Amino acid sequence: MPHPLEQLRDEALRQIESATDEQALETTRVKYLGRSGSISSWGEKMKALAKEEKPVVGKLLNEVRNAVTAAIETRNAQFHLQRESGALAKIDISLPGTPHEIGSLHPLHQMHERGIQIFRRMGFALAEGPDVETEWYCFDALNTPPDHPARNEQDTFYLSDGRLLRTHTSTVQIRAMESAPPPLRVIASGAAYRRDEVDATHSAQFHQIEGLYVDENVSVADLKGELEFFMRELFGPGTDVQFRPHYFPFTEPSLEVYVRSKALKRGEQWIEVAGCGMVHPAVFEAVNKARDDKAYDPEKWSGYAFGLGMDRLAMILFDIPDIRLFAQNDLRFLRQFG
Ligand code: PHE
Repeated sequence: MPHPLEQLRDEALRQIESATDEQALETTRVKYLGRSGSISSWGEKMKALAKEEKPVVGKLLNEVRNAVTAAIETRNAQFHLQRESGALAKIDISLPGTPHEIGSLHPLHQMHERGIQIFRRMGFALAEGPDVETEWYCFDALNTPPDHPARNEQDTFYLSDGRLLRTHTSTVQIRAMESAPPPLRVIASGAAYRRDEVDATHSAQFHQIEGLYVDENVSVADLKGELEFFMRELFGPGTDVQFRPHYFPFTEPSLEVYVRSKALKRGEQWIEVAGCGMVHPAVFEAVNKARDDKAYDPEKWSGYAFGLGMDRLAMILFDIPDIRLFAQNDLRFLRQFG
């Protein structure tokens, strides 16, 4: 004759086995192992037993409780697995996944990084300004009077509120000087916009690195030496640099920079890559007016500024024939710079 506890155990195991879902299983658990479950109540009954029976029944109670608990856990795991595989069955695992291709930096971005790296080694700090600008920063403060052709609506993109898309990064010269007194040595990298006829070498959006150095006794020799150093770092020691007289309202004298390098594919001809010059005293005065002080006294301070055409430089460095390729987003083009 089996002990009643053993009968209870067998009964419980049968019910656990035949439970059809998790809810039925839980009901069974409560029935046998719950606080007042039929197995649990044997804990109370034990107290009435004879002293010598207690250890025997106690041991049996433990075994029964463990067996039933284990059976419930096993059955629960089965239900869990069924649920999981049911969910998986709805997924078509033969469908190809979405590939994650590894991209690469845009050639213009690479060009900016190279340029910035060289200038940082030369002690320039990074400055910045917005693409949407006021006429003050783009023209007035840069000694460019209202009747100057660059301010024409045919040449500049104006917003309806009178602001404009900056036509050059020289705007950042003014912003930098307004926010800090001399000496100053900064570059700014970014986009500029002009209403140009778009062709292989002109785009309505192009990119520049602007440079500004203000200190005591800055001369054209500093400007030429530092830009020559930059070009040779970029294109190699066999690079020739030429400065040709030019005109900008905000520099005096003004120069255009041309490079030629045997190390480059199209290196035989001179290519124009930058505008530069000595900061015009009228620019310092405009800054003083905005600052409401005399920090940029043209009698004491002098400076040079330059604006490098980054699209041009990238076209030379990477031998790219058409500026429009930068913006067309053609992967066959972009992949060549990965
Ligand atoms: N802002 C001029 C341009 O875009 C370049 C330039 C910058 C010239 C600084 C002189 C000094 O053409």
